[in-house]
Amino acid sequence: MAINLIFLIDRQRFCLSNILLQDRSNRLLDLLDQAGRQLSIVFMDDQSMAEYNFTYRGKKGPTNVLSFPAADLQAGLPPELAGNELGDILISVETALCEAGKNNTSLHRRITELIIHGTLHLLGYDHEQSSRQAMVMWEKEQQLLTKILRIPSRRTTMPHLAINVDHVATIRQARGITEPDPVLAAGICELAGAKGIVVHLREDRRHIQDRDVLLLRRTVKTKLNLEMATAKEIINIALDIKPDMITLVPEKRKELTTEGGLDVIGNEKKIKNTIKKMSKAGIPVSIFIDPDATQIEAALEVGATFVELHTGRYCDAETEKERDIEFRLIEQSAELAFESGLRVNAGHGLDYRTTTRIAALPFIEELSIGHAVITRAVYVGLDQAVREMLDCIVMAG
Ligand code: PXP
Repeated sequence: MAINLIFLIDRQRFCLSNILLQDRSNRLLDLLDQAGRQLSIVFMDDQSMAEYNFTYRGKKGPTNVLSFPAADLQAGLPPELAGNELGDILISVETALCEAGKNNTSLHRRITELIIHGTLHLLGYDHEQSSRQAMVMWEKEQQLLTKILRIPSRRTTMPHLAINVDHVATIRQARGITEPDPVLAAGICELAGAKGIVVHLREDRRHIQDRDVLLLRRTVKTKLNLEMATAKEIINIALDIKPDMITLVPEKRKELTTEGGLDVIGNEKKIKNTIKKMSKAGIPVSIFIDPDATQIEAALEVGATFVELHTGRYCDAETEKERDIEFRLIEQSAELAFESGLRVNAGHGLDYRTTTRIAALPFIEELSIGHAVITRAVYVGLDQAVREMLDCIVMAG
């Protein structure tokens, strides 16, 4: 392999994607007419970076990127012995993460900038030589970055709001009668501006019933998203009623609500089979996953069209610091999923305080929100509760 990515940090902790960074590095070498050259990129923590920074530059503390051109070692060697190596780049992921936070950009993007910067150094660009050289290098970096990233720098549309009406049915089931009706509630949500209706037909039928899904299929004017497990009975219902899309979720009998994302790797066979059946019927499949690079890569592998990123840990965070860490993971994951060609939704636990920040992420198409809106509807009415949530989304723009 011409480009060797070496992770001396826990890749999972930072939600870093090997595939995405490989792809971007390959594109970079192509653009620089260096395809096939050997390049090692080593990702490390601040402590290791500080050691290299001191040993090779006599400077204390970590830095973001260091480059070691192979040309320095090959000087004086005849061309046949000089080899194909471009050199080594060291990147401190901790410093990159700090810089990403300050610049309000994603970690993958910041690391891409550092890879570009480091590679240009390997090719002899040097911003420390003169202000003119600095300008030449900066311009080249910007040019390369625009070509490498497929990400829109500014979003053009707000994410859609899809309302989950399960808890209207929860209230109905508490009495075992016909009111309140989630089908009627769905109509009110649509009139208030929701762009989609979501229901989870659980195997235990604790809230939404088969009749609800059937009627919703006939009455929903926007988009009906059926949340479901990969259970044979529910798969057959979905194939029969043909929702506009399905979202695969894990399901446990004893849980109060969906507790975590689906483990795509551990359930690969079942998920693949379900996606195959849905594809034949023309029903797009989303998979509800934790913001985790390996789950995103697995979702791509099994052929999902969408992923829905689990926002629960971000919403439940008890401190601002914790919330910030969880937010960064969602941001990273959304970017990774989008860049990998998946469409991206998000949801779970979002409320009137936590939604705006997620809605501002440029990669997310739709937010699936239930409990907070139905709770607020008890006090202010469903129409207003939906409109207030839409305001939270618009505020993100
Ligand atoms: N997304 C998924 C996959 C869910 O399972 C749920 C809960 O049913 C939601 C979104 C909505 O979560 P909440 O009701 O907390 O807004």
